[in-house]
Amino acid sequence: MCGIVGYIGWREALPILLQGLKRLEYRGYDSAGLALLNGSIISVIKQKGSVSGLEAATVTLPEEMRNATIGIGHTRWATHGEPSDQNAHPFLNASRDIALIHNGIVENFSSLKQELISQGYIFLSETDSEVLVHLIDRIWKSDSRLDLESATRNALRHVDGAYGICVISSREPDKIIIARKGSPLVIGIGTGEYFIASDAAPIVEHTNKVVYLSDGELAVVTRDGYTVKSIENIEQAKIVTELDYSLDKIEKGGFEHFMLKEIFEQPEVMKNVMRGRVNPEKGLIHLGGISEYLDRLKQAKHIVICACGTSWHAALIGKYLIEEFARIKVEVDYASEFRYRNPIVGVDDVVILISQSGETADTLAALHVAKEKGALVMGICNVVGSTIARETLCGMYTHAGPEIGVASTKAFTAQVVMLYMLALSLSKGRTISHDEIALHLRELSCLPEKASRILELDGQIKGIAERFRDANNALYLGRGYNFPVALEGALKLKEISYIHAEGYPAAEMKHGPIALIDKDMPVIFIATHDSTYAKILSNIEEVRSRKGRVIAIANVGDGEVSRLTEDVIFIPSSSAPLSPLLTVIPLQLLAYHSATLRGCNVDRPRNLAKSVTVE
Ligand code: AGP
Ligand code: GLU
Repeated sequence: MCGIVGYIGWREALPILLQGLKRLEYRGYDSAGLALLNGSIISVIKQKGSVSGLEAATVTLPEEMRNATIGIGHTRWATHGEPSDQNAHPFLNASRDIALIHNGIVENFSSLKQELISQGYIFLSETDSEVLVHLIDRIWKSDSRLDLESATRNALRHVDGAYGICVISSREPDKIIIARKGSPLVIGIGTGEYFIASDAAPIVEHTNKVVYLSDGELAVVTRDGYTVKSIENIEQAKIVTELDYSLDKIEKGGFEHFMLKEIFEQPEVMKNVMRGRVNPEKGLIHLGGISEYLDRLKQAKHIVICACGTSWHAALIGKYLIEEFARIKVEVDYASEFRYRNPIVGVDDVVILISQSGETADTLAALHVAKEKGALVMGICNVVGSTIARETLCGMYTHAGPEIGVASTKAFTAQVVMLYMLALSLSKGRTISHDEIALHLRELSCLPEKASRILELDGQIKGIAERFRDANNALYLGRGYNFPVALEGALKLKEISYIHAEGYPAAEMKHGPIALIDKDMPVIFIATHDSTYAKILSNIEEVRSRKGRVIAIANVGDGEVSRLTEDVIFIPSSSAPLSPLLTVIPLQLLAYHSATLRGCNVDRPRNLAKSVTVE
């Protein structure tokens, strides 16, 4: 999610907040805003668009606000409510004496919003975040013994989901309340001044002394210092950390590249995609963005999924998932092909568009063709309010957060988790039982931890990459659910290391590609345990007998594969339908290290753009 800044001290807050928001631009933003507190007045300025646009708008601020020495600022990565002036943060209560900014997702915002509306509260935005400011207002007004801190603490006890918040009030104009659960917050320690931010990037130019808030903590920050307590109101002793001064490194969360940071974010992203949508214990799935169309989706004569690049690979996995779970025929098409071949789709069909950016020209064109032909058009996008998201009839956001690296990683896994939940939703009450759905959801909920264990193999994977950094070609082979992963692994390698790579269904190797095998050809096999495992072992033997260099992804405890090659990456087991979420991670890391070892520009590979908005 996006960015938070706050300042309390003796200097004018405005320039510090604006500069801080600019430092957070790498996190992506679709709108920005800030609130300034000067004595008894809070002034809010917020709008859709960039931080520099916001800065230009601040010229209209009255002098007394430009002199304010307390303020909070926010750059939004929308999750609920498309980018607009009204949906930008900060949010004010009706009496305009409390201002709040929020990073994260309020899972139970619908019920909270309904309750507040029934109590007379008026909402000005479509966001989940706005419920927080009205909740604090209601609680504070309900008990005169409360102060801003205790009202905020009590309010947060009603909140499910993830938050990093800053709250200020003209009723207590000498403090900033901050609280964290799932979205990071850092306090920068100055002399008579304190800085707050989502990460250290906006702070490092002012001070290198920081305190990181932990989940479940709330802090009161004043000009004289800060106190940190748990949400249960128990004082917390905090360690002051000295910052590593490289701003560039801080923007990447300490990682060398955004791509590596995003690969390592995947366990958290998997949780975010599921957040508020599944209840494994009860076997419940709620996909709000399609709920009113779910029956029509279930009755589809057939489903076509259109996408490009990595999203097309996710679409292929979606085909396997929906056909296995929901037994609905699924066709996957490159959007660029679908749009020009006068496809046979009509009112009984569903066309799903998958796009991280939501702006890919070919995918958008495919959307228009599907609409013209009367199909129900559904979107799976990451960027809220993007063109494809807005032009589909229904859809779901993947909540992967901004993906800065050109090579898509966390967006892919988020798409696959989304498709997994969709496939189960389409099967509900039709093809698989409630208990089976609960079992599948419980398996899904174990994935983030398993993914984290794979990320611990980064060093081993880098070692393997070193051994084939000078290869000119590579072959990726998988079967079933892991055939699309073979394609994705090959795409990752070629698009960032410029090594030519191809992905194939493993059995297809015998129909031509085997002619390429020699001692210089690395062949990467995805050899996890599933119904085709024995066949994969045979394929590995075929490659070895031609002196091919085999690298294998296998399950922990597999004794067979390690007999066939010394380069085995052992990953935790999972069901076949979930295996792509695990097998793709070593391939992402393999591509990343190959590219860095070859001195390639990982985050901005040659000839590529993050979003292909032209044909
Ligand atoms: C994947 O690493 C590439 N960046 C590219 O293939 C990308 O997946 C493709 O351009 C589709 O982008 P979209 O998901 O934003 O539509
Ligand atoms: N969920 C909130 C919104 O959509 C906050 C998003 C963010 O973290 O930027 O406004």
